[in-house]
Amino acid sequence: MTTKIIVGNLKMNLITLSERDGYLKLLKSEIKKLKNDGSWELILCVPFVHLDFFSKNLKGKNIYLGVQNIFWDERGSFTGEISPVMARECGAKYSIVGHSERRRYFKENDQEVNKKIKVAIQSQITPIMCIGETSDERKEGLTKDVISRQLLDGLEGILPLQSEKIIIAYEPVWSVGSDIEPESNEIMEVRILVRKLLTQKYGEAVAGKVKVLYGGSVKSKLIKKVCFNPQMDGVLVGRESLVPVNLIEIVQSFSQC
Ligand code: 13P
Repeated sequence: MTTKIIVGNLKMNLITLSERDGYLKLLKSEIKKLKNDGSWELILCVPFVHLDFFSKNLKGKNIYLGVQNIFWDERGSFTGEISPVMARECGAKYSIVGHSERRRYFKENDQEVNKKIKVAIQSQITPIMCIGETSDERKEGLTKDVISRQLLDGLEGILPLQSEKIIIAYEPVWSVGSDIEPESNEIMEVRILVRKLLTQKYGEAVAGKVKVLYGGSVKSKLIKKVCFNPQMDGVLVGRESLVPVNLIEIVQSFSQC
């Protein structure tokens, strides 16, 4: 049985302590409905300030915590930034890196993404590397070029053994937060491209171990679309992860795929 990975990206939500507490309570009661048979792994990427709290209060087999970003160095005079070591020490095992919202609003480029991936691995944080084309790039037929550039530049200098630890998340920017869903063949084409590029760079054995997820307007209804044909290893969920019952429904539908 393959384990499906479901990542919840809470983004800048749960903005009060009471929202945080209410969310955790609901989530815990929903999690009780899940069969812990190894068919799923849930990674909740919480806001930094809630990490320690979730780490102390949300425990369970196959449930892990992550953050939504890290800085590209471990320590130093970088006012306002969060070191991957800080995140790890507070309970994170994963970090999203290069999310399209960071690329868009904070102008993160592939070289920064690359540095963050390297420091994450060095600090024992598994990077969830986001790649995806914008709506304009898609219209201009540039999807493959963009995916190839983001993937290869982001993985520059990463050794085969290190690459096995990376999770790739294909998140077409036009689908993030929009309710516009790609067709399963579009998802499939990107999965095939990612596998091909990873195989060319690292060989088939290593490439086969890298998990590839889909993200963008994921709802439990969409699971079949990203599950059967494109055979994705998991999903990265934004809005729906804010409603525990919906998030757990996604875990249930995916683990039955
Ligand atoms: P939505 O699921 O809200 O479209 O967000 C996707 C996302 O950005 C996950 O990282």
